[in-house]
Amino acid sequence: MNELRGALIGCGFFARNQMNAWRDLPGVRIVALCDRDAGRLQAMGEDFGVPARFTDAEAMLRETRPDFVDIATTAPSHRALVELAASLGIPAICQKPFAPTMADARAMVAACERAGVPLMVHENFRWQSPIRRLRAVLDEGTIGTPFFGRVSFRSAFDVYSGQPYLAEGERFIVEDLGIHALDIARFLFGDATAITTRMARVNPLIRGEDVATMLLDHAAGLHSVVDCSYATRLEEELFPQTLVEIDGALGSIRLGPGYRLSVTDAAGTRHEDLSPPLLAWASRPWHNIQESVLLIQRHWLETLRDGREPDTSGRDNLQTLALVEAAYQGARTGLPVALADV
Ligand SMILES: NC(=O)c1ccc[n+]([C@@H]2O[C@H](COP(=O)([O-])OP(=O)(O)OC[C@H]3O[C@@H](n4cnc5c(N)ncnc54)[C@H](O)[C@@H]3O)[C@@H](O)[C@H]2O)c1
Repeated sequence: MNELRGALIGCGFFARNQMNAWRDLPGVRIVALCDRDAGRLQAMGEDFGVPARFTDAEAMLRETRPDFVDIATTAPSHRALVELAASLGIPAICQKPFAPTMADARAMVAACERAGVPLMVHENFRWQSPIRRLRAVLDEGTIGTPFFGRVSFRSAFDVYSGQPYLAEGERFIVEDLGIHALDIARFLFGDATAITTRMARVNPLIRGEDVATMLLDHAAGLHSVVDCSYATRLEEELFPQTLVEIDGALGSIRLGPGYRLSVTDAAGTRHEDLSPPLLAWASRPWHNIQESVLLIQRHWLETLRDGREPDTSGRDNLQTLALVEAAYQGARTGLPVALADV
């Protein structure tokens, strides 16, 4: 198995998880790093032993010709960087949110399709091991046809100190966090045809919304509620756990606090502890997310080697991003938005 050579753009807050996961995975090595910020670039290069460092992404990709590029920057930079990778024939992973607009997202997908290069969005929440287990239990079919779903993320965790830009944007929780919950809803219940949204800003110190409740109609015939909040003080802070409820004609599934799964069907109720492992470089409470980073990056390597489209490809992510766009449109009018109109 030839070792794959990767390059990383963006040496910020979250990229450290990506670098740790690349280091854990066999058959891959990050050979070059890029960041416009020389201090962050140097720190990451030293911490992970990568001597090839660039402040210009094009110079890095032209000089090092990696087998893929991992783009870990924030959304406004994604289109230029993905189009650059496509123009050089380099497969790309792009962090979420994929793009600030649907037009940018569609342009990136088109550029990579024209160039024949794979494109995956780092949409890692559906790669959390508890969520994968939930999907497997759903597929067993013992709860019958699902008619209701709920994907819920409610917390008062201070996300602003690690990611100060979250407090500054006109859009916040749906674009940053709701996007993951919406993707989980798609993963579990299939694509949506319409969405109805309510939003609120509770924290007066931030610019965007920190609370959102969304009702999704799914093509498969069921409906689901996706709700998220960074203004919810609970007896037990659950960050970054996503709770899930699924009701079917013959039973129900719950992913509750503490990664506790309960499945009720004709055989009665059974429980499983779905606590994710604490990887050597991980730290609580982020370990659930950190494991999902490892799992999505392993998926990328497998699909790159096998010539398969990643589950969370750019093309797939257009559907998740369309839900985000539709949520903001619908929150302004109060009316349902058909996904076909986004
Ligand atoms: N998937 C997840 O679970 C998860 C969690 C946190 C953050 N994120 C996402 O990761 C992305 C990065 O977030 P972050 O908090 O690490 O941001 P950050 O601001 O800490 O880091 C981004 C880095 O990219 C660099 N950069 C930006 N444009 C560049 C360019 N054109 N060339 C070179 N360097 C450039 C910046 O200098 C900065 O160091 C965001 O889109 C965020 O939503 C994902």
